[in-house]
Amino acid sequence: MTAAVSIENLTKIYTLDLLKGRRRVVALENLTLSIGEGHVMGVLGPNGAGKSTTIKLLLNLIRPTTGSARVFGLDPSNAEARRHVGFLPENPAPYEYLTGEEFVRFAGGLSGLRGAELTARVKAVLEQVQMDRFTGVQIRRYSKGMTQRIALAQALVSNPRLLILDEPTSGLDVLGRQLIRDIIVAEKKKGTSVLLCSHIIPDVEALAEDVAILIGGKLVRSGPVSEMLSSEGSRVELVFEGVDAERLASLEPEVIQVGRRLTLRTGADDARALIEAAQQAQGRLISMQPIRHSLEDTFLDAVRSSQNKVGSTIE
Ligand SMILES: Nc1ncnc2c1ncn2[C@@H]1O[C@H](COP(=O)(O)OP(=O)(O)O)[C@@H](O)[C@H]1O
Ligand SMILES: [Mg+2]
Repeated sequence: MTAAVSIENLTKIYTLDLLKGRRRVVALENLTLSIGEGHVMGVLGPNGAGKSTTIKLLLNLIRPTTGSARVFGLDPSNAEARRHVGFLPENPAPYEYLTGEEFVRFAGGLSGLRGAELTARVKAVLEQVQMDRFTGVQIRRYSKGMTQRIALAQALVSNPRLLILDEPTSGLDVLGRQLIRDIIVAEKKKGTSVLLCSHIIPDVEALAEDVAILIGGKLVRSGPVSEMLSSEGSRVELVFEGVDAERLASLEPEVIQVGRRLTLRTGADDARALIEAAQQAQGRLISMQPIRHSLEDTFLDAVRSSQNKVGSTIE
């Protein structure tokens, strides 16, 4: 089976012509990664890591210095490769004097849709992004969240097999973010492959199966998200109500008491004894959950151990 995306030893060096001569910016250095069909890959990295550069190379907006990028096995300069891709740019700027519906129709037309099929797809995606109530409103009157949703509708209208999303949730409020997350989940269920570039760790953790951590143009870690979230020496966090910390002190867990609520962290093996002791003291168990190593911890470790400081090399 052909991968949706396969990138091999991809390097991009920008050359800047400045008043005092030329500068080379190594934006991407020997990047190798691939996305299987139907998978969601998160590319996580701080600003300047090379995420948008990777996307632009996949869309043939720029050409590599060395190495190769393939979309469904084809070079991005091949129109057939791009036909199956939907793209949400960072900071989308749709034509603001068009209404949302006109803009999505325009995008659908550019992707080759015509007639009844175009009308049906426009209606379907406007509903999918919950913008069907605002179709007659000009985009210049939209909020940031609405503009983002219309831009996403534009990416979805051609029913792409690969969605490339550049910072899809950045700058949105909680509701706006949730809506975009729900759409990505629904697309994944349909079998769409997704490349999700983001600096927002919880979004990548929630949505992606695989993650690549990019720092200063270099891949510093990659693999299944689940492997990066392995539980930390199987410890658990227990929350009780109505029991005093002193009643459980003999078991020596880490304790935080706020009013009637007591939060304890302890080894999984000691949890049962603690629950029994709390119940004997008339306490009530509110929750018990494993303490996980978060993707944020992995990311911070990667940043710390990266030789290259955050930001790309400038020569
Ligand atoms: N057109 C360009 N000309 C020169 N340098 C660029 C250009 N585009 C990006 N860069 C530089 O390349 C590096 C990677 O940028 P980018 O791919 O936009 O990172 P990210 O999307 O991860 O924030 C940065 O140092 C950025 O300043
Ligand atoms: Mg970017």
